[in-house]
Amino acid sequence: MVGIFMNGCCGHMGRAIVDMVKHSEDYRIVAGGDIVVPEEPIGFPVYANVNDCEEDFDVIIDFSNAKAVPGIIEFAKKKNKPLVLCTTGLDDDTVRMSVEASKQIPIFRSANMSLGMNVLFELVRKATRVLYPDYEIEIVEAHHNRKLDAPSGTAYMIADIINEEANNELDYVYERHSEMKARDHKELGISSIRGGNIVGEHDVYFIGDEEVLKVSHSAQRREVFGRGALTAAKFLVNKPAGCYSMQDVITDILK
Ligand SMILES: NC(=O)c1ccc[n+]([C@@H]2O[C@H](COP(=O)([O-])OP(=O)(O)OC[C@H]3O[C@@H](n4cnc5c(N)ncnc54)[C@H](O)[C@@H]3O)[C@@H](O)[C@H]2O)c1
Repeated sequence: MVGIFMNGCCGHMGRAIVDMVKHSEDYRIVAGGDIVVPEEPIGFPVYANVNDCEEDFDVIIDFSNAKAVPGIIEFAKKKNKPLVLCTTGLDDDTVRMSVEASKQIPIFRSANMSLGMNVLFELVRKATRVLYPDYEIEIVEAHHNRKLDAPSGTAYMIADIINEEANNELDYVYERHSEMKARDHKELGISSIRGGNIVGEHDVYFIGDEEVLKVSHSAQRREVFGRGALTAAKFLVNKPAGCYSMQDVITDILK
């Protein structure tokens, strides 16, 4: 049984994970952190200040807010526990902080915890290798109206994979409104749509003169990210300090 500290336990993802493990024999939420402390009991103690937590647990899962992440990294270091970092929109300093902390504790960081999306990363890598520079590449992502960051962390991950394969010669272009000019071949367009309850859509277009290849992923329920986070949590317990990602889990599955 993996004992979890769930940071952001009252948010959409936090509540999805709480529901998913309610009857589980493999996972148990031991305590949670959230600035919104629930009025009704939710089956475990919730701390507005994570440092007040005295319960013992095996691993921390974080789906909260980018501003909360430095604090949760410090908390993981203090408790000497592995951390599954799922919150997106982290600035460079916070990413550096997580890499530094991974010298002391195992840290799993991925802007997209779904297995399908991590397979898409490899498909996009292969397509870029074959089709670039002949084809022009654009990413379109869509999410619910509560999402704070744009483009999504996943769109950035896809863009970085494409650019890596394109010898880092592509410039990311987020909007085409401010300048009247034709598309430069060395652009990588990234467009965001926000509305309603869209869980997460990512389309990658490889646009040639005679054909268009579209690689597409649609997250239909947020539980897909919860399942990935739980798999990552189990994977991380008893691992040595270091940086881990979904690719490590996929390698483990393929063994
Ligand atoms: N990696 C992935 O696969 C993946 C998937 C979905 C969402 N996300 C990311 O996870 C984060 C949360 O998503 P969500 O849809 O649950 O958002 P949400 O807004 O519904 O929930 C966030 C929760 O965090 C709490 N919170 C805010 N500041 C906090 C703090 N300082 N300390 C503790 N808790 C705090 C909020 O009160 C809220 O309950 C976002 O960054 C989102 O982009 C990542």
